Formats: sequence, C-alpha cells, structure tokens
Amino acid sequence: MSNIQVTRLTKVFDTATGPLKVVDDVSFNVDQGEFVCLLGPSGSGKSVTLNCIAGLLDMTGGDIKVDGVSVKERKPNYGYVFQQPRLLPWRTVEENLQFALRAESGRAAPDEAGRIRRVLELVNLAGYEKFYLHQISGGMQHRVGIARAYVRNPDLLLMDEPFGALDEMTARHLRSELSATWLRDKRTVVFVTHDIVEACYLADRIVIYTPKPTRIASVIEIDLPRPRVYGSSELHEIESRVLSVFERSMSEFAVAE
Ligand SMILES: Nc1ncnc2c1ncn2[C@@H]1O[C@H](COP(=O)(O)OP(=O)(O)O)[C@@H](O)[C@H]1O
Ligand SMILES: [Mg+2]
Repeated sequence: MSNIQVTRLTKVFDTATGPLKVVDDVSFNVDQGEFVCLLGPSGSGKSVTLNCIAGLLDMTGGDIKVDGVSVKERKPNYGYVFQQPRLLPWRTVEENLQFALRAESGRAAPDEAGRIRRVLELVNLAGYEKFYLHQISGGMQHRVGIARAYVRNPDLLLMDEPFGALDEMTARHLRSELSATWLRDKRTVVFVTHDIVEACYLADRIVIYTPKPTRIASVIEIDLPRPRVYGSSELHEIESRVLSVFERSMSEFAVAE
C-alpha cells in the first residue's frame, strides 16, 4: 500500500481570459492504508488534485510523492473510479475486467480467471461474470467500476465522486459495501466528494477545501469505529463540525470576492 505526500501543490490553468489559479499551495499527507476524503464545493479543484496525484496532470508548483517517489518521475500504481463507471456496455462483466487487466500488456494476465472471480466476490457480484452491462442495474454497474479499479491490485485507489450520480438509497448501500471492502484489505484511498455526510461516513480523515483558488480550510480526523451508522449521534456531531468549517470557508470566500 502507498503513502502520499502532497507538498505545496499549485495548479494554474491558462484560459482564454488569462491564468486561472485553481489550487493554491495545498499540502497534506495520506498514510499507508488510510481512507482520506477530499471535501470541497464544486469547482474547488478536487478532480484536479486527484489527477495530479495520478500523474495525469502536470503541476504548476509543488510536488506529490507516492512512496517517496515524485509522480513526475514515476506514475503510481493506482486504480481510478469515476462518477460514471465508463464501462463497455456491449461487453460482459468479465470482459470489462479482462479489458482492464490486458490494457497494459495486451495479453491475458496470469491467473486472469481467478483474479476476476476474487474481485467480483469482493464487490458482491459473484455469479454475474457472463452478464452484459445492460442486463445489470446502475448500482451493480458501479460495483463493476469499483471491481475494475481493484482488479489490477493497485496500491492506491483514487475515487472521484463515484456515487454522486446515484439515488441516495443505492449510494448508501454502495458506501457501506465500499467501507466493508476497504476494511478487509486496507488500500490507501483518496476519495473526492462534495457531500459532507458521505465524507463523514467513509473517511479516517477529511481534508476540507475552500472555494478556488483552493487552500485547505481544515483537516478533521474521524476516529469512529466501523461500520458507522447514519443518523447516529456520534456521526451527527462530526457532520456539524465539518459543516461549520465548510460554511465558514464559503462565507469568507464570499467576503473576499
Ligand atoms: N483543463 C482545464 N483548463 C482550464 N480550466 C480547468 C481545466 N480543468 C479544470 N479546470 C478548472 O479548474 C477548476 C476546478 O476543477 P475541478 O478540479 O474539476 O473541480 P471539482 O472540485 O469540482 O472537481 C474549475 O474551475 C475548472 O473549470
Ligand atoms: Mg470534480
């Protein structure tokens, strides 16, 4: 499993109306096997940060090290989960996972069938190998998206609002499954969301972003045992704390504008 050090990350885009500073001097660490949520309003540079961690997007300033090596030198071994699962709809569950496994070498991976079976068990989809994507529900498709991120055995999982487009009941179910899956083998996770309740339910630690140009408003530890319970007084108390930091940072931004 990987650890991450984000040091003084700055990202400026050149746009038609001039430079746009999105991330402004952000530093945080993620420990090995830790579940960290990046929480911030829409447009605050959460996806940008995740793409910088993956080494997919160049930084304007600062550095990100994964296991002590700059992502500029070597891309980390990560699995990515998007808001839309981005699967191949005309292929089966199994074929989608094979496609991910073969993406690099172009050949069948060693013990391919075994890896696919184990990862489908992990996300509670055993027995669905031969189903086409259009034959399974949206929630199940999301589980295939998570299985795809796991199947190459990454040290690091990067998740970008994976449940953001789902109805709340399905999202709750998938969050509890993700939490249980994570507990079983403790990958390092960076999970992006704008949903306070989601962040409090999932995270060991929440890094709260201000609106852009983004800085860190606060970092909040969540030392609650799992499985966590929606609506419990402990969770409520943390949600209120996060909400007040969030609201303060939003109103400070409004004044600064
Ligand atoms: N390639 C790009 N060129 C210019 N601006 C970009 C680019 N990618 C993202 N941005 C801008 O950066 C800001 C943050 O984007 P993003 O990280 O996607 O926000 P979010 O926190 O919602 O994930 C937005 O204002 C967006 O318009
Ligand atoms: Mg985003």
